[in-house]
Formats: sequence, structure tokens, C-alpha cells
Amino acid sequence: MRTPIIAGNWKMNNTIKEAIELIDGIKKNELNEEVEAVVCVPFTAIRDVKEAIKGTKIKLGAQNMHWEESGAFTGEVSPLMLNELEVEYCIVGHSERRQYFSETDETVNKKIKSALAHGIKPIVCVGETLTQREANKAEEVVKNQVVKGFEGISVEDINNIVIAYEPIWAIGTGKTASSDDANAMCAFIRETIGELYGNEKDNIRIQYGGSVKPNNIKELMGKSDIDGALVGGASLKADDFVKLINY
Ligand code: 13P
Repeated sequence: MRTPIIAGNWKMNNTIKEAIELIDGIKKNELNEEVEAVVCVPFTAIRDVKEAIKGTKIKLGAQNMHWEESGAFTGEVSPLMLNELEVEYCIVGHSERRQYFSETDETVNKKIKSALAHGIKPIVCVGETLTQREANKAEEVVKNQVVKGFEGISVEDINNIVIAYEPIWAIGTGKTASSDDANAMCAFIRETIGELYGNEKDNIRIQYGGSVKPNNIKELMGKSDIDGALVGGASLKADDFVKLINY
């Protein structure tokens, strides 16, 4: 039904040289054909990684984009620039961007629309903080992010969007949400998509992200509503990333 998708988010790691070494390390292995594997790399490495993954099943992703095609936006990268580099996926609204770079549901919404309009598949990140979870607000927060992020997105586009549920307290901390908690929130997100888009809820892919490692991937992927993982730390080691793809 839903093709599993394992995406590496390299974050601000890997020079071009290191990026090529990592891809070479991944390429030494057989990769599960049934799983879609994506690497979301720094802008500076996109062009070289594009060459390095030629002939493999690995797909190319970016970590952010601006919604405008060009203009006076110093330091930003546009969807046309990503198109030129044949970038297929782009992470949008990662919690680190929301936290450190003032991204809001409104800018996330603009980016999703722009990505779709340019044939780039957004990986839309949502997730609650620990305080919000402890205050029993996790579902409310995540639902709000989904509803606002998807405002004005048409039902035809839903198939081209991936959602990543990343509880902020589980990112880079070694604390994973229990597979049941992660699944419950992914199911809740799917229900929310159902309220907005009806049956498309069964087609949209929802990833879990937050300290995903080779030793917990199988359990997470065995859950009903988890269709993949968005992986930080473990995507920086070829052996680990391969184990995740071949879970
Ligand atoms: P870690 O896998 O390092 O916890 O990072 C998760 C993440 O933020 C992926 O986008």
C-alpha cells in the first residue's frame, strides 16, 4: 500500500568531501528495493551528491527552501534553484528551523505550496515539545500544525506530501518515543488528514523522527501508522543508514 520511506536529514553536517565519502559507503551495500531511501543534504553538497547517487535508488532531498522563485532574500535558496539540481524532496518546517529561524505555520504553509507548485515533494515536520506533552497538549499542538500547514492545499496534492512526526524532546537526545506513543500520534495525524481530505488519509505517508537507530527501526516500522523514518544522527554513518533502509 504505502511505500516505506527512510530519509536521512544530515542537518548542518558534511562538507562535500565528507558527503561523497558517506554516499560511497552507502553504495557499497545492497539496498532494499521496496523502501524509498532519501538523503536530505546541505545545499553546498547537493550537486556532488546528485552525481554520486546516479545509478542507485537513493533519492535527493534538501533541508529547506524559500517560497519565492527569486528576489531580494539574502541567504535563501529558491525552488527554481532546487529544480535545477533535480531535488525531489525538501524538508519543510523542521523543529530546528521553527525554533532557531523563526519559522511559523504560515511560512511552512507557503513553503509547502511553493514546493508542490514546483514539483518538489515536501516532508512536512510537526511535533510537540516536552512541556506541551507533559501538559497533555501534544495532540492539540500537532493538529494545529497540520491544519495550519495544510491550509489551501488541494486534495490532489496530498499524495506528494510526506509528514514527519518528530517530538522535539526525542530529537538528538537518545530518547525515542515508545513505538506505541509514536504510532498513536501518527494515527492521530492520519485521522486529522482524514477530516481534511477524506480517504486520502490512507495514502499519505507519515514518518516518525527522533533518535531512530538500527536497534529500534524494526519495531517502529512494524506499527500500523508509521510509514518511515526521518533520521538525523544515524543517517551520518553509512552502516547505520544502510541498516535503517534494510530494516
Ligand atoms: P536524530 O535522529 O538525531 O534524533 O534527529 C531527528 C531529526 O531531527 C530528523 O529530522
